[in-house]
Amino acid sequence: MITAIAAVSQNWGIGKDNDLLFNIPEDKKFFRRTTLNHTVIMGRKTLESLPNGKPFKDRNNIVLSRNKSFSCEGTEVCGNVEEVLKLAEKYEEVFVVGGGQIYETMLPYCGKAIITNVNASPEADVFFPNLDKDESWELTERSEEYDFEGLKYSFCTYVKK
Ligand SMILES: NC(=O)c1ccc[n+]([C@@H]2O[C@H](COP(=O)([O-])OP(=O)(O)OC[C@H]3O[C@@H](n4cnc5c(N)ncnc54)[C@H](OP(=O)(O)O)[C@@H]3O)[C@@H](O)[C@H]2O)c1
Repeated sequence: MITAIAAVSQNWGIGKDNDLLFNIPEDKKFFRRTTLNHTVIMGRKTLESLPNGKPFKDRNNIVLSRNKSFSCEGTEVCGNVEEVLKLAEKYEEVFVVGGGQIYETMLPYCGKAIITNVNASPEADVFFPNLDKDESWELTERSEEYDFEGLKYSFCTYVKK
């Protein structure tokens, strides 16, 4: 099963200037706990936005890039979606971890989306497809609302119908 995981604003914004919109420690821990020892798929830009451009520790990192000469230690690079899907078959739990281009491209292959819904609307230049407006997705779980320095957020699970 392939699952998308993202933190989104009220209007499903996920990033600005190749950086995240939010820095919520409990959300970072949740992301780590959920993806630890599993496989993550990300776009080349998201990889470059990580601290020192390094992949996630203790996870199999798959990076999508059309640049045939791109490589990065600790990652497997795929040049297209077909290659990613073939590679993903080898792994039991696979998470699509961004960014905007990769969520959009990989969502048709995802059965589940784990969304941290943040009740704020900072300016964004990259978005996650709005699952509340997509009839093929259903919200099945919403956690209680948490607060970090005035930012209200909850963890939601969407399942493809
Ligand atoms: N809120 C969240 O949960 C979250 C999570 C992750 C990222 N983000 C944010 O998202 C933003 C980055 O997203 P983005 O949309 O700009 O970039 P991205 O999706 O991370 O990466 C885009 C790159 O992926 C490669 N790519 C895209 N489609 C491909 C395909 N079909 N086949 C092969 N390679 C493909 C291309 O790399 P090449 O140019 O090398 O060919 C492309 O430039 C940042 O602001 C980041 O902070 C937010």
